[in-house]
Amino acid sequence: MARQILIAGNWKMNKGAADGAQLIKDIKAQIGCGCCCGGKSPEVLVCPPFTTLSAVLAEAKGSCLQVGAQNIHWAEQGAFTGEISGAMLKECGVTHVIIGHSERRQYFGETDATVNQRLKAALKNGLTAVVCVGETLAERMAGTTNAVVERQLRGALADISADGMKQVVIAYEPVWAIGTGQVASDEQAQEVHAFIRGLFKTMFSCPSVADNTRILYGGSMNATNAGGLLAQPDIDGGLIGGASLKPADFAAIIKTATKA
Ligand code: PGA
Repeated sequence: MARQILIAGNWKMNKGAADGAQLIKDIKAQIGCGCCCGGKSPEVLVCPPFTTLSAVLAEAKGSCLQVGAQNIHWAEQGAFTGEISGAMLKECGVTHVIIGHSERRQYFGETDATVNQRLKAALKNGLTAVVCVGETLAERMAGTTNAVVERQLRGALADISADGMKQVVIAYEPVWAIGTGQVASDEQAQEVHAFIRGLFKTMFSCPSVADNTRILYGGSMNATNAGGLLAQPDIDGGLIGGASLKPADFAAIIKTATKA
């Protein structure tokens, strides 16, 4: 089965409701029907901050844009100040959620175990999860990239079945490339993506997991470097931060993906 490319925008802590709705208007104007027509169209997803979700969902309605959140708590409700549950996300209308972004790991104490708990909550609530993994510069320099990514994936995906994996997308995001303008080379990215696909062959007895799971690249992807990255056999899309806030750049990446 050919994997459909997914172009996902991670807005991080940018854009309130009014600005977010405007950004969707601008993206729609830039892409026209470019992401929902034709056989090779990519799926397109935007992930705004929680308080922007409703405005963005309203503006995206009837378009090909899908909307996701940037985090989910593992409990359905309760005394977890500052957190949002899967039921709340479902009620709000989102279909996707980013889990385990390196900024969550680095600044908010996210661990492989909590990523796993959040992932289970996403699947239980019928959401598609974009699970992020990636090594720091020190880990890459030490030659431990694959070991780090393997540890993160084994932890994140503990107890997840082949069936559950149908709702999982992986985003490989080398930490040293996030927001730095220093993108991984096509070869560096492809090497890790191929490693992840190979790992899935050993982790899941069902071969369709390795074949069908989409693995996105993230880390300073932009309109200029997207073509080379998306042309790699194991790169199935992008998780895009900075460039997803610029309508022309995001649209250019979507157009590149349509050709990839
Ligand atoms: P960037 O962010 O594209 O700004 O590097 C990517 C991400 O953090 O998901």
